[in-house]
Amino acid sequence: MAQSDERTPDPAKRPADSFTRRHFLELIGAGAIGAAAVGSGVLSTEYLSPNVVKEPPTRFKAGMPESYPPGSVTLDKEQKVFIVRAKEGYFYALSATCTHLGCIANWKAEEGIVACPCHGSKFDREGNVIAGPAPRPLPRYAMSLDDHGQLVIDKALVVGEEATLKV
Ligand code: FES
Repeated sequence: MAQSDERTPDPAKRPADSFTRRHFLELIGAGAIGAAAVGSGVLSTEYLSPNVVKEPPTRFKAGMPESYPPGSVTLDKEQKVFIVRAKEGYFYALSATCTHLGCIANWKAEEGIVACPCHGSKFDREGNVIAGPAPRPLPRYAMSLDDHGQLVIDKALVVGEEATLKV
């Protein structure tokens, strides 16, 4: 009487779509090759892409002149710039970055000064140092109007303290 061996089935009796250890290993191998190809593609793309630092643009729009009352000092926190409108109506823009060690200064309306919270430097509303340790005045940036009448400030262009924008 013939006994059937469950562990070594006759290949002729095996169904055509059965999943064997060979199929499993082929699948694992193909997966590993695919993962290696994707990984090397990602690394190649990263290697070939230019290695540049993306910095925010230096020019930005600061809104309409009417939104700044005469005699106001407004800090644009994102741009780190004070937009100053003199009582006479003209504008100028000052860096809010302290010239000592780079902290962001604040406008103190009650005292009428710009004060740095880090080491006590103080500046007048023109950006001049009135108390140290800041070694230099706050830089003044170029200001202009665009075609729609909006204020435009360019932080890449430092101008003299006489530069103002009359609107
Ligand atoms: S960083 Fe402003 S006083 Fe030092």
